[in-house]
Amino acid sequence: MTESSEERLSALMHAGDQAAWSTAALVLALRGDGPPALVDAARRVVDDMGLDLGAALAGRPPAGTAAQASAPLLQAAAVVRGEAAAWAEQPDEALLAQGLASGRGAPGFLRLAGAAMPGLSEAVSRRGARMLDVGTGVGGLAVALAETLPQLTVVGIDVLPRVLALAERVRAASPAGDRVVLRRQDVAALDEPDTYDLIWLPAPFLPEPTLLAALPAATRALRPGGWLMLGHGKYGHDPVENALNRFKTVAYGGTALDATRAQQLLAEVGLTAVSTAPTPLGSPGITVGRRQR
Ligand SMILES: C[S@@+](CC[C@H](N)C(=O)[O-])C[C@H]1O[C@@H](n2cnc3c(N)ncnc32)[C@H](O)[C@@H]1O
Repeated sequence: MTESSEERLSALMHAGDQAAWSTAALVLALRGDGPPALVDAARRVVDDMGLDLGAALAGRPPAGTAAQASAPLLQAAAVVRGEAAAWAEQPDEALLAQGLASGRGAPGFLRLAGAAMPGLSEAVSRRGARMLDVGTGVGGLAVALAETLPQLTVVGIDVLPRVLALAERVRAASPAGDRVVLRRQDVAALDEPDTYDLIWLPAPFLPEPTLLAALPAATRALRPGGWLMLGHGKYGHDPVENALNRFKTVAYGGTALDATRAQQLLAEVGLTAVSTAPTPLGSPGITVGRRQR
């Protein structure tokens, strides 16, 4: 029997209710603060979902994880209220937790990049290697990459003084902090010819006019033989997931690109060996191109 539109609407609202409230329960169980009866009830939800929080945290800070878990709920609520869902308007703790999560992804990022771009691993491991992290946020990825690659200097640029101040704290706490340079800079106005071996450009966080200005500027900023990695959405066979990805990107004020459009854009700025790397579920799409030697 096919579901009627009315049943579909009820099912969607029920699923939304469950997702929103189970996230709220997870956040309260992680934080452990609040009225005891509420925290107990929240813990009960988590237990009944079969999640052993102690084991799942595996050394991650509960407060930071709670901030990270609450981020989609707070951002979606801002969109529903008609407020801008600006990424940077989240509390410091949520921004730092997300930065930490990007940092945890750094070794996988390098593995994928190395597999997709023969010669890249050697290039970023050489003395004097330089990478540009565009939209560095709180610097989680920039610092983790510098920690992973002892010869690499990472320049992180961002337009927001508040996130750069948080990034400065992350940089100062890292043993590789002296190889991380943070700068307030709009990528659209980047003017550093022949400087970087690798540039990371995340389309979902850059408005389209910025992205279109950034692509030629970033290409000029590559050293001959350097690589540009363009992060973008992954649009596959599931139309609902595709539409949700686009919705979130539009809400963040970024550019929704699929792999085909990403490849076109890199080819248009004259990059060669353009290809899209296979990335795991939950990771952004990555399309790479290389400046000619
Ligand atoms: C989601 S955050 C990146 C998080 C980061 N990878 C981390 O580890 O914390 C995206 C960042 O892009 C920055 N951004 C947006 N427009 C920009 C522009 N024109 N130039 C440089 N950065 C920009 C935003 O301010 C924001 O901090």
